[in-house]
Amino acid sequence: MSFVEAVEELAHHAGVEVPREGSQSTGPDCRPLYAALEQAAHYYAEQLRTHPQANRAVTYLKQRGLSGEIAKDFNIGYCPPGWDNLIKHQGKDPQALKQLRESGMTLESENRCYDRFRDRIMFPIRDHRGRTVGFGGRILGDEKPKYLNSPETPVFHKSRELYGLYEAHKTLQKIERLLVVEGYMDVVALAQFGIRYAVATLGTATTPDHLERIFRTVPEVIFCFDGDRAGRDAGWKALNTTLPLMREGRGARFLFLPEGEDPDTLVRKEGTATFEQRIQNAAPLSDFLFNKLSEQVDMSSLDGRARLAELAKPLIAKLPQGIFQEMMNKHLGELVGLESARFTSQQPQVTSTPKPRPKRGTLQPMSPVRRAITLLLKQPELAQIPDLPTNWEALNKPGVDLLTELLHTLQETPSLATNKGALFERWRDRKEGKYLSKLANSKLPTHDYTAEFTDALTHLQKQLEGQSQDLLLEQYRQGAITEEQYKERLRQLYPGR
Ligand code: CTP
Ligand code: MN
Repeated sequence: MSFVEAVEELAHHAGVEVPREGSQSTGPDCRPLYAALEQAAHYYAEQLRTHPQANRAVTYLKQRGLSGEIAKDFNIGYCPPGWDNLIKHQGKDPQALKQLRESGMTLESENRCYDRFRDRIMFPIRDHRGRTVGFGGRILGDEKPKYLNSPETPVFHKSRELYGLYEAHKTLQKIERLLVVEGYMDVVALAQFGIRYAVATLGTATTPDHLERIFRTVPEVIFCFDGDRAGRDAGWKALNTTLPLMREGRGARFLFLPEGEDPDTLVRKEGTATFEQRIQNAAPLSDFLFNKLSEQVDMSSLDGRARLAELAKPLIAKLPQGIFQEMMNKHLGELVGLESARFTSQQPQVTSTPKPRPKRGTLQPMSPVRRAITLLLKQPELAQIPDLPTNWEALNKPGVDLLTELLHTLQETPSLATNKGALFERWRDRKEGKYLSKLANSKLPTHDYTAEFTDALTHLQKQLEGQSQDLLLEQYRQGAITEEQYKERLRQLYPGR
């Protein structure tokens, strides 16, 4: 939460109003609008119980499988037929009429005022603090429009509100994740089946404001869409909106339902456990992104893979800089068969250019392990350099054990530096002995040995990071660790990054 929101939230819990300095900064006083909307919600809920025609609404809700208990949790109501029920009920003076108009509950036509909603099931939309800010109204049959929603008002902004968020807060001690679905009925049905963490956007695509609110509440969002074309497109749109917000510690997954189903129908058909299993198996953002792009190219050809890289790069570029972006680049590199360095560096072309041949006599062609051993044999005092990189000894590469042993031996017994005979003596009966004398006699150009040696060890350290990263990625891909665990371990691998 932002600071102001946090203060308001705490004040709300404590039952006090937050005093404001001056009225300019806070805009007009919206309290009368909230009060009018609250009163309307109360009125509609009461009509569901008492109106002579309410049995039609009750029958409809029952036929849709809604329990009375859940209707109460969501304060679902009924707006009776007629053009002026609400006006008659609470618009008795000009002031009250003005509030009804400003809160979007009435319409004006030819200087006459009408109720906006008529003969509909009413879903009060509550903000995260529980204040009713608007309504969604569903017709009882198949007529059109199926839903009518409150218009934008000073207290209701479709692009910000999430239906069901307040109710989730109300029932759950701690919300671990939020499931974003498309409809009111989906939120309500899922809640009835014990999935209390579903929220719906109000007939609009998910906006950055929605996501900011979601990520202030939970670290993980799961988008749930129909499996049809429209659902897939909506999913892709949501992915694009989410990318720039994927900061460290945030996760997004995507769930596509079988065609012709929505969460409401599906959870009633297959039950809570099976539906939750679907949530559990929702595809991580990275899978959805790469799978979707891979479908658009021929992954078996070089051109196709290059095209994949072209398609993926602008999307990955939308991610905030950090471990997740690095991981996506690396993944892309693996998919197209190139090293991730190609994507993170500024090099525009994807095809690899041949490396320039190293000049003769430089140390470059030697592997870093050989380089380090050779340098150490030529100048054993290098072992005493303070603060040498050490985070490479676990590297799984030939020669690393020998290098470690040699380095430790020289560090423990510095006098061996001036007595190479005694040094080699230690490996005399082992196969490494021959290898050591060979390296000791190989030619090295005169160079800055200290810099070369540190550089070789640093290089090894990078390789170990890469190896661990590969291993982690593999574990993550195979599902042995979660995305969260993966990121956490990556962070441990690169402290401070
Ligand atoms: N919607 C809307 N106006 C419409 C149709 C839909 O505002 N004319 C919004 C509503 O918020 C609705 C959501 O889009 O909940 C999803 O639409 P849909 O899937 O058609 O509705 P359901 O919630 O599934 O409603 P029902 O099951 O009652 O058909
Ligand atoms: Mn539905």
